[in-house]
Amino acid sequence: MPTALIVGASRGIGNELVRQYRADGWRVIATARKSEDCDALRQLGAEAHPVDVTNAESIGGLGWKLDDEKIDAAWIVAGVYGPDHTGFPTEQEFDQVMHTNVLAAMRLLPIVAPLVAPTRGKVAVISSRMGSIGERDNTQGSLYRASKAALNSVLADAALTYGPQGATCLTFHPGWVQTDMGGAGATLTVQQSVSALRATLAKATHAQNGAFLNYDGANIPW
Ligand SMILES: NC(=O)c1ccc[n+]([C@@H]2O[C@H](COP(=O)([O-])OP(=O)(O)OC[C@H]3O[C@@H](n4cnc5c(N)ncnc54)[C@H](OP(=O)(O)O)[C@@H]3O)[C@@H](O)[C@H]2O)c1
Repeated sequence: MPTALIVGASRGIGNELVRQYRADGWRVIATARKSEDCDALRQLGAEAHPVDVTNAESIGGLGWKLDDEKIDAAWIVAGVYGPDHTGFPTEQEFDQVMHTNVLAAMRLLPIVAPLVAPTRGKVAVISSRMGSIGERDNTQGSLYRASKAALNSVLADAALTYGPQGATCLTFHPGWVQTDMGGAGATLTVQQSVSALRATLAKATHAQNGAFLNYDGANIPW
């Protein structure tokens, strides 16, 4: 039975990843920061661990719990949008967005990618095409955009480090998705996004290590 790890699974895209991998018969290890959300994940058949991705000790604790695991598909999903304006962020806004969207991945990838390498598995971060500099045509949500551009840089470094060990490292845009972050007017249901993300990850080859992909598998410019 293959094993999936989902970091940030209390709701939205992460929660749907848990549901779909379980429905397919996978063993699922999932994290959420609140204990009641961990209980709900256990109800879905996942092994659940409480993790706040902005807390280094919490991430370190996950590392101990995952010691000796072999993971086929890992998804780092937790993220925040932050302020919806184009002005300077406050230091607090900056820290919250950058710690959640960037620093967490810098801490998690060195824990997770070595568990994926032995299975020649895949590790994915959920970024956003709002982080693409090549496609940039407006400045709304500039802190979020900067955080996802930085996340893509972190993933590119992980691909260089862990690719030669066997892991395929990918960064994804999930589409505009009907979640708390995406809002009700988004174009994709969470089921549509996640089913396409899973299919694209399953089809990805090691030659694509380090790619920035749309949920449907198309390449996105950096
Ligand atoms: N929805 C879209 O249209 C869209 C588009 C592009 C990219 N994305 C990206 O997709 C990912 C998932 O977004 P979503 O749409 O599913 O958003 P969501 O419904 O707002 O869910 C966000 C998830 O991140 C978790 N999270 C936030 N801060 C955390 C922390 N410090 N520690 C642990 N977990 C934390 C939340 O947990 P709590 O419940 O504990 O807050 C929740 O599970 C994000 O990285 C987002 O940037 C989404």
